Amino acid sequence: MTVTLTNPLRVGLRQERVIPPQCLVIFGASGDLTHRKLIPALFELFRQRRLPSEFAVLGCARRPWSDEEFRSRMGEALAQEVEQHQQAWAQFASGLFYEPVDLEQPADVVRLGHRLDQIDRQRATRGNRTFYLSVSPAHYGSGCRALAAAGLLEDPQRSRVVIEKPFGRDYGSAQELNRIVQACAKERQVFRIDHYLGKETVQNILVLRFANTIFEPIWNRNYIDNVQITAAETVGVEERAGYYETSGALRDMVQNHLTQMLALTTMEPPGRFDPEAMRNEKAKVLQAAQLANEAEPWKCCVRGQYSAGGSATRPLSGYRQEPGVNPNSTTETYVAMKLFINNWRWQGVPFYLRTGKRLPKRLSEVVLTFRQAPVHLFDAAGGAPTPNQLILRIQPDEGAEFRFEVKAPGSGMRSRPVDMGFSYDESFGEPSDEGYVRLLADAMLGDATLFTRSDEVEAAWRLYTPLLELIEEAPWQLPVHPYEARTWGPAAADSLLAEDELAWRRP
Ligand code: BG6
Repeated sequence: MTVTLTNPLRVGLRQERVIPPQCLVIFGASGDLTHRKLIPALFELFRQRRLPSEFAVLGCARRPWSDEEFRSRMGEALAQEVEQHQQAWAQFASGLFYEPVDLEQPADVVRLGHRLDQIDRQRATRGNRTFYLSVSPAHYGSGCRALAAAGLLEDPQRSRVVIEKPFGRDYGSAQELNRIVQACAKERQVFRIDHYLGKETVQNILVLRFANTIFEPIWNRNYIDNVQITAAETVGVEERAGYYETSGALRDMVQNHLTQMLALTTMEPPGRFDPEAMRNEKAKVLQAAQLANEAEPWKCCVRGQYSAGGSATRPLSGYRQEPGVNPNSTTETYVAMKLFINNWRWQGVPFYLRTGKRLPKRLSEVVLTFRQAPVHLFDAAGGAPTPNQLILRIQPDEGAEFRFEVKAPGSGMRSRPVDMGFSYDESFGEPSDEGYVRLLADAMLGDATLFTRSDEVEAAWRLYTPLLELIEEAPWQLPVHPYEARTWGPAAADSLLAEDELAWRRP
């Protein structure tokens, strides 16, 4: 069963807001993120005609590149798109510039200011600037300070700063970084990015909940038995051992992406869809969240690390054998945990979060399992009727599905479960934009609704503090269980749910 649109003619009429003239300054422009995500997203916006003609990108990094070199390197990285849209690329690339800048050098920052003034004259960008800090997290604070000292963040209407994840390493360092950033800029100028919030399906959690009348009355402890949030990846650590070894799955995925999915699934309805109303509710629910057992966190959390696996034709190395990884590393590549949210809506409902690398499928989803029907009148396939489930498919195969019992054909009265599905692809027929397309546009528009506010990011770190402290102080109490690459994580993660007579959904 699929869902069809009530008015298919209206599909495709995207409502897009107009991005004002400005210069986007990318610090860390020689890094991976710039050519893998940011420039492709900007080129996409350009091809969708969403960038104004008075627009420029200024790439900044320490390397002594010229404008031409920056343009050709970005072009090489996007070779396929450039090949397909040569004319558009030529036009887009004429708005790309480069300035060698070390943010730690005051003279460089002064030169940056002059270059920006020059670009303003050349491209009519009107002194309006978005600064994107895609540098090492250790430089977020000093980067903001350098920009503020050069007067580049003075005008809150015409300057914004975008900060990549991870925002801090724990509660204390996030608080400290917030203090520094807020001394340099007003909170409304600060855009802490989490690319999951740019995903159409993550935003759809809000629309599904708050634009329909049928879900909200049952979206609570009276009807929902448990919630599972999964972000599974097939990739390993790739070329990022240097970063990942200091981060691990808890910091890399749980504190940000999974926690954002948790917040959108559980927050109260905001009074308005505006940045403050939205973020008030997200912060509030995260402040009410806590590990299922804060005093003995090892009882509600499992860590794992992939070992060699795969198939005879495609063997996969274990995490410890990956280039750049310490052969005795205890960094987790998998985490599963159980949380509660101590408020009126969710008291007593367990939330199970899991994420891992080198799992059998790439898949992110939120699964709400409803309580069992109180009386079983009918025979059901497999004994008891399957509880109703609402599955929000974040990726891939974006959409949602609802599982419910129907009468099985035949003369008896047996029930069996069926699924009713909605797929973005079938209903809208166009691929959704990459998260960065939406988020870059929003930051340049000055719309912070889909960015994390200081209190939210702190609440998210605070939630995991007992685990982070345990890993730091008594790691043997939370050992990393090996799991074979291309399997669904360590058996201990299954036991976590089995104790509650539940099992992870195996998609
Ligand atoms: C990033 C993490 O933030 O998200 C990566 O650093 C991870 O380790 C990636 O692979 C997953 O994003 P997505 O959009 O592919 O689910």
